[in-house]
Amino acid sequence: MSNFPDRESLDMTPPPHLEDIEIATETLQFNMASIPTTGALLRTLARAKPAANILELGTGTGMATCWLLDGLDADGHLVTVDIDPVVQQVAKINLGYDPRINFVEQDGSEFLQNTQTLSFDLIFADALPGKFSELDEALSLLADGGVYVCDDLMPQETWPEGHAPKVPVYIETMQARPELEVEYWEWSSGILLARKIAA
Ligand SMILES: C[S@@+](CC[C@H](N)C(=O)[O-])C[C@H]1O[C@@H](n2cnc3c(N)ncnc32)[C@H](O)[C@@H]1O
Repeated sequence: MSNFPDRESLDMTPPPHLEDIEIATETLQFNMASIPTTGALLRTLARAKPAANILELGTGTGMATCWLLDGLDADGHLVTVDIDPVVQQVAKINLGYDPRINFVEQDGSEFLQNTQTLSFDLIFADALPGKFSELDEALSLLADGGVYVCDDLMPQETWPEGHAPKVPVYIETMQARPELEVEYWEWSSGILLARKIAA
């Protein structure tokens, strides 16, 4: 396992609208939101790629969305998908003014099965589809050299019964894929980064 920079060496400056989103998230009692260190990592990754095309699977209330959006340059684009219109509405209210973002209210499995013509430089897989189902479909949307990120791989109170044994299997499956360079860190909420090797 690699060492990972500690919190102090990341840019933790809050992105625009984070505070409003946090308040609404608490009001809704939505307990699956990403934590700030994950957000800061995602923003750094978004900043690294000019005119990046980004996909987020699982908008939630937009906690990670606002970090990703803050890392995008003016020519970048972000598509974010969630099945639940109530939580996604928080993100729409706070970030929907930005022309660089497209909200998709759809089952992520359907989205991944029907969206095979798109290509993304960065995928944040934060819903079950794209992680524990439709993994091939998600990875096929990743551009050569693109980066796929998954969080919440360390034990979480919100994990449903039966979820825990799936996590090591998922990490091993990712590490075994020949088209990927994979790193897993017990850092933040448990982060896996996979870079697609250029064909
Ligand atoms: C871990 S939360 C996302 C958190 C968010 N990315 C953040 O950073 O705060 C997972 C989200 O996946 C959504 N979800 C669950 N099943 C889904 C499905 N089949 N398709 C799309 N979204 C789904 C839930 O509604 C929830 O908002």
